Order: sequence, then C-alpha cells, then structure tokens
Amino acid sequence: MPDQQATERGASIDRERLARLIDRERATYAGRHPASRAAFAAAGRNLLGGVPMTWMRMWPGGFPLYLASAHGARLTDIDGHELIDFCLGDTGAMAGHSPAPVQAAVARQYAVVGGASTMLPTQDAAWVAADLTRRFGPTHWSFTLTATDANRWAIRLARQLTRRPKILVFSYCYHGSVDESFIVLGPDGPQSRPGNVGAPVDPSETTRVVEFNDLAALERELAAGDVAVVLMEPALTNIGIVLPEPGYLDAVRELTRAAGTLLINDETHTFSAGPGGCTRAWNLDPDIVTIGKSIAGGIPAGAFGLAADLADRILHDESADIEDTGGVGGTLAGNALSVAAMRATLERVLTDAAFTTMISLADRYTAGVRGVIETRALPWNIVQLGARAEYRFCPQPPRTGGESDAAADLQLDEYLHLYTVNRGVLMTPFHNMALMCPATAEADVDTHTQIFGAAADELLRQL
Ligand SMILES: Cc1ncc(COP(=O)(O)O)c(C=O)c1O
Repeated sequence: MPDQQATERGASIDRERLARLIDRERATYAGRHPASRAAFAAAGRNLLGGVPMTWMRMWPGGFPLYLASAHGARLTDIDGHELIDFCLGDTGAMAGHSPAPVQAAVARQYAVVGGASTMLPTQDAAWVAADLTRRFGPTHWSFTLTATDANRWAIRLARQLTRRPKILVFSYCYHGSVDESFIVLGPDGPQSRPGNVGAPVDPSETTRVVEFNDLAALERELAAGDVAVVLMEPALTNIGIVLPEPGYLDAVRELTRAAGTLLINDETHTFSAGPGGCTRAWNLDPDIVTIGKSIAGGIPAGAFGLAADLADRILHDESADIEDTGGVGGTLAGNALSVAAMRATLERVLTDAAFTTMISLADRYTAGVRGVIETRALPWNIVQLGARAEYRFCPQPPRTGGESDAAADLQLDEYLHLYTVNRGVLMTPFHNMALMCPATAEADVDTHTQIFGAAADELLRQL
C-alpha cells in the first residue's frame, strides 16, 4: 500500500534534522548574497519595513534577493547569480520577463508615439477587448491596473445590478486585497481571516463563505437570497491548487442561476489552464470574468468583462454613476501604455501556440516532481493546472481550502525554497508553485527535478 508506506515515511521526517538543514541553507543563503543582504540592511531608513512592498519581507532567508536583471525565464541578482525563474512574479511574468514584442510596444508607445497617461483612448483597447472576448467569452470589457481592482469593480457592478448586499467566496480564497474576501470558515463558522488589517467592517457583514467543492453549503448560503455575486477561481490556486470535482462547476452555475446570483470567474492565476483560462478550457459560462497580472507582460494592467445583457443593464441603469464619482474608477486605468502592452502580450506572446509549449513543460515538471515523491515514498502530492503546478505536503490532493491549509508546513516550505534558490532555481515564495513561461526550457525543468530530488534525499538521509 504506497499511501500507508508514504504516511509512515512522512511521519519519520526528523524535525530536528530539518531544522539543522534549514540553518545550513540560511547560512549558505546569507553567504552567497552579501550585496542583497547589505542593500536590505541599508533600505530600512525610509522604506516601510525596508522593502518597496511589505510582503517582500516574507521571502525565506531573512532578506529578499535584489534584482539586477531579468529576461525570459531567467533573472540575475545583484550578487551576480543567475536563477531559473519558476516564480515568474507569482504570475505577473507568465509571459516571461520583458518579452521582445512587449519591449517594442512599450518603447514605441512611451518614447516614439509618446503619452502614457492622457485620459484619451487608443485604438489598441478595442483590439484587446475583442481578443479577451475570443478567449474568455464575456462581450464587454473595461480595464484596471490590477486584478484586485478588477474584482473590486466587478463586485460593485454586481451589487448594483442585483440590488443585493452580499457576496460569497470560498474559504482560503485569495482575490487580491478586496475587503469583502478576507473571511474563512473557522471551527465556529465564518470569521475574519487572521491578520486582516484595519477591516472596514466585520467581513461576515458583507460576505458569505463556504468550502470549495461543497455544493450543499453553497445551496444553503445562496438560499438566503441576499448574495449578489459568487466570486471564485474555477480552481483555488492560492492555498495550493484545489481542483473542482467532476460536475462541481456546472452545479455552481446552476445553483447561482437558480438563486438569481451572478458568477465571477477570477482567471488571474487560472489563466495558466490555456489561452482562455479555465473558462474556455472547461467550457464555463460565468457572467463576469476578471483578470490581471500577466496580460500586459509585467506592465500593470487588469480587466473585467461583462456578459452582453449585464453590460446593457449597467449602461442603462440611471441610478448607477459608472462614469464620474460612483465608486468605479481609476485615473490611470486603461492608459495607453498598459493597453499597448496588453495587445503585444496577447497578440504576440501568450498565444494559443505558446500555451501548448508551456503546458507540455508543466507536464514534464509535474512528472519529474511526482517521480521524486513516489520513489522516495514521500507523503506529498503535486497538482497541475495547465502551465502551473504545485506540490503540497499531504498524500492526496486536498478537496477544500480548509484541508489544504491544514497541510501547510512552513518548515518544509522554507527548506525547499532555500535549497533550490541556493542552487540556482527560484520558486514562488509563500507556497510551492512553479509556473512555465514561453521561454522556459526542458533543461530548466530537469534542473529543478534533480535539485528537488537531492533536497528530498538530504531530508530523508539516515543520521
Ligand atoms: C486569483 C487572484 N486574483 C486577484 C489577485 C490580485 O492580484 P493583484 O495583487 O495583482 O491585484 C491575485 C493575487 O495573487 C490572485 O491570485
């Protein structure tokens, strides 16, 4: 029984040995990166927390690597180490770093044509909207600078259209810094997600929450009749990858329709499933699609798309001010530079053909990691979603966000991150996600498999 064997081996991971290995890897990390360490130490005077954005403090090793340059699937730190990048800006660089067509489009718009922020539309915008319709289905698109804003504005429109006050999300989802989404199912029911900073109101006032893959709970919560919209990733990707069970997403669509509740597919990460994300790959029919991060090749941009009937209703809703100060807006949203970058990325980089290559690389990555897990009988699993894959420290893939949260292991996370980065491979921090871009090579994948295998062997070596 491989599972039982695996569980026994898992139980035998020696935590003291793991702690010693982490100490060794921390020392190696500090020794290899004196310039990054010094830059971080010097930055505390005027940067909040010593970093441009506070989550950058969370990189394992006590300080982040400082970037010198990044091209394709590689980046170089200021100590001169070249890294194979499977983090890819946690999807912001799914097109690869600075792909040539985006470089050209950005340089052209900013330096040759001129004008990044003029409050005037450019003709690229309609091209991008048509391509997003081709990929994802919704017919009418609007632009933002981030996926967070795409979600925030989509939620506002949904509340306006339905005249209902609440939204529904899934426990341990992440949709950016959207106030309503910081809620989890605790042992006593819904509660504010631990660490929720300065919440405007208790999120249980604005939001219902259920576990992913739990249809009975969804049906029960929708029955209250106060949910404007369900905001979901078709597969959870921010608490490991939690895939929908067969028939689940179709049932979600039926239940939401029956309840008069709208459905948003947040494709920001699940875009990895193919050129039109999970929505197209799995033939889904949401009312609204939101997306951000990767669609402009790393230049800030996001978008939300509405089904035709919703677009018509919101444009003719006389009580909705969607043009002036009604709560949906952003001076720089849809700016000429972002839109030019989106067009270049969608037209020339994240093409249908590119996804075929990226997904076959992720197949290879997943097979390699699975081989290491199985040959060492580790009680871990790996889940793939198109061009992305993530391993998790439990024998079977979790069915819910709560189950996946319970499998978190911060010590193993830190060990594996430091082990790989010290040997030239950068993984996504805060979880064990790897993403392929068009510039990733099979040899990059094989290098990771070899290093991952060596990390597992050192972990299991008898004292
Ligand atoms: C599914 C999903 N939606 C939205 C966001 C928010 O993206 P951003 O922080 O770029 O606004 C994230 C960020 O990780 C995400 O994973």
